[in-house]
Amino acid sequence: MAVTFPYRTVKDVDVRGKRILLRADYNVPLRDDGSIADDYRLVASLPTLRYLLERSAGIVIIAHLGRPKSAQDTKYSLAPVAKRLAKLLDHPVRFIGETVGDRVAQLTRSMNPGDIVMLENLRFQPAEKENDAKFAQQLAKQSRAELFVQDGFGVVHRSHASTVAITQCLPAVAGLLVEQEYLAIKRATDEPNRPLTAILGGAKIHDKMPLARKFIQIADNVVIGGALANNFIKYDGHDVGDSLVDEAADQLVQQILADAQHRYGDKLADHLILPSDVAISKSGELKGERVECGPDAVRAPAKIYDIGEQTIRLVERVVASSGTVIWNGTLGMAETVNFSRGSARLALTLAKNPQIVSVIGGGDTANFVRGWDALKGGSFSHVSTGGGASLALMAGEDLPGISALMRR
Ligand code: 3PG
Repeated sequence: MAVTFPYRTVKDVDVRGKRILLRADYNVPLRDDGSIADDYRLVASLPTLRYLLERSAGIVIIAHLGRPKSAQDTKYSLAPVAKRLAKLLDHPVRFIGETVGDRVAQLTRSMNPGDIVMLENLRFQPAEKENDAKFAQQLAKQSRAELFVQDGFGVVHRSHASTVAITQCLPAVAGLLVEQEYLAIKRATDEPNRPLTAILGGAKIHDKMPLARKFIQIADNVVIGGALANNFIKYDGHDVGDSLVDEAADQLVQQILADAQHRYGDKLADHLILPSDVAISKSGELKGERVECGPDAVRAPAKIYDIGEQTIRLVERVVASSGTVIWNGTLGMAETVNFSRGSARLALTLAKNPQIVSVIGGGDTANFVRGWDALKGGSFSHVSTGGGASLALMAGEDLPGISALMRR
């Protein structure tokens, strides 16, 4: 059955002239001087905002930034975000330095159609993460909203007041970004153009376990790289030197291998691709020289930081002949030139083959390919704005912030 979005969106309800409470994910990376290092999440929210503005809606935006301990953690104020959004949107965004309180109530009373205001960081209030019903009611009441729009895809895996409790206070529909993310990821996992190749990198095997198992279940080929692969190399009996491994990983590796054996049978080695060679830094330092070797030649203090050339070529071949590629987690230390080769060659293969449906998720991976896209002019089908949220959706888990919305 074709994948559809089973929840109502802004297009299914009358938003004309309405007051809207809109949840966005503006959890953007900040530089040391407090400026915004990457505004991708802001740019991704523009279509919904424009859609609402064109229909003369008045919009009260709520969002979070970072993980502040209290409202005194002023470096997490959303003020710079409101400023940047106004510039991107070419429309005034009035920032209220309060999340709930008298000023909010007062300013929202005098809002006109087409006005946008942004409230202060939701997480300045502990009630947000507690999914507190009273706090959600306060947000709904003080914004004078008639409708709640969830467009913060990056945060829909959290059960917070602004993702779950709020849906009990107002009719709740999805924004266009949430719908787009859901459809792109679900179509890739549930109705891919075959062959489907799933690529899993990153570091923490515990966090990636549900996704690894899901990938083996659905994909024709699974590639495992990044520090995740070190656990497999170690399990195979090799010395991994001082490479990053998870000490308690053996059982998880065993489970993944058993799943893969069950799925691919005697073709296991063709369909589960693990590094046959690696790139190390002999000194262990990240700024060290890139040296390639077999997995049996790594000795402390060396650290494995990337997949080697032989593995890269195999990945390129498998990817180039795929119909769909889902990629979560970089294949090496993507922040350094020396050890980002595996990820770069994979990104290039995808960008050069626009016939491949490519869905890329996970914070670091998305950051990496976006840099790549801008520099080399490549293109990918979908680069998710979600970190944990895209991981969860790819793994087929329930997203509480989406399942709480009104169904169609
Ligand atoms: C993210 O950046 O993944 C989301 O904004 C969620 O942030 P959190 O992990 O702090 O809940």
